[in-house]
Amino acid sequence: MDGNGRWATARGLPRTAGHRAGADAVRRVVESAPSLGVETLTLFAFSSDNWKRPTREVTTLMRLFHRYLASEAAALQDNGVRLSVIGRRDRLAPSLVRQIVAAERLTADGRRLHLRLAVDYSARDAIKRSVREASSLGPDVDLLIRTGGERRLSDFLLWECAYAELHFIDKRWPDFDATDLEQALADFHGRQRRFGALPAAV
Ligand code: FPP
Repeated sequence: MDGNGRWATARGLPRTAGHRAGADAVRRVVESAPSLGVETLTLFAFSSDNWKRPTREVTTLMRLFHRYLASEAAALQDNGVRLSVIGRRDRLAPSLVRQIVAAERLTADGRRLHLRLAVDYSARDAIKRSVREASSLGPDVDLLIRTGGERRLSDFLLWECAYAELHFIDKRWPDFDATDLEQALADFHGRQRRFGALPAAV
């Protein structure tokens, strides 16, 4: 979800205003995803490296996660969305962890969409933990969309992206909408995925 900061700066606003607009984009995209045939949607909301940002920005992001869970959990449940939060929890505020657990419980039966929010997430850390604790990683990623003109993986789902199709878009995350998601999916469906085999065998 790249580009919140630049979106705000371009409008003469503080970066935190971009994150607020980014949270609205999250609501729009989550709402449109099931009707576009998306079954699992993982959003990179806060990387383990984002702790290096100024305290004010980190505090705003944590507040936005809080607010999102508080205001959306019931709507997610009503819309058949199952929410999971992936990443470390030991560095999050206990009140946020409680809210995460409550939202995960409330939405556990959702079958239309599995929404995964990556918070304090590092793919390298997740891989190391899965080896140490013999725990599993997530499902394979079919399509990875990166906004804001960046062309990197930045420690996101490294293992799960082994055969992911990559889609880069210059648009900044707060401007990303259902049409952009639809276009990314149309582009994805036009690609030939071979997984190392010959076309006829797939
Ligand atoms: C990266 O782009 C984005 C983030 C570190 C934060 C993402 C958070 C949100 C979209 C808002 C809250 C999310 C939820 C789930 C309610 P950047 O802002 O660093 O972009 P820049 O490259 O323009 O600086």
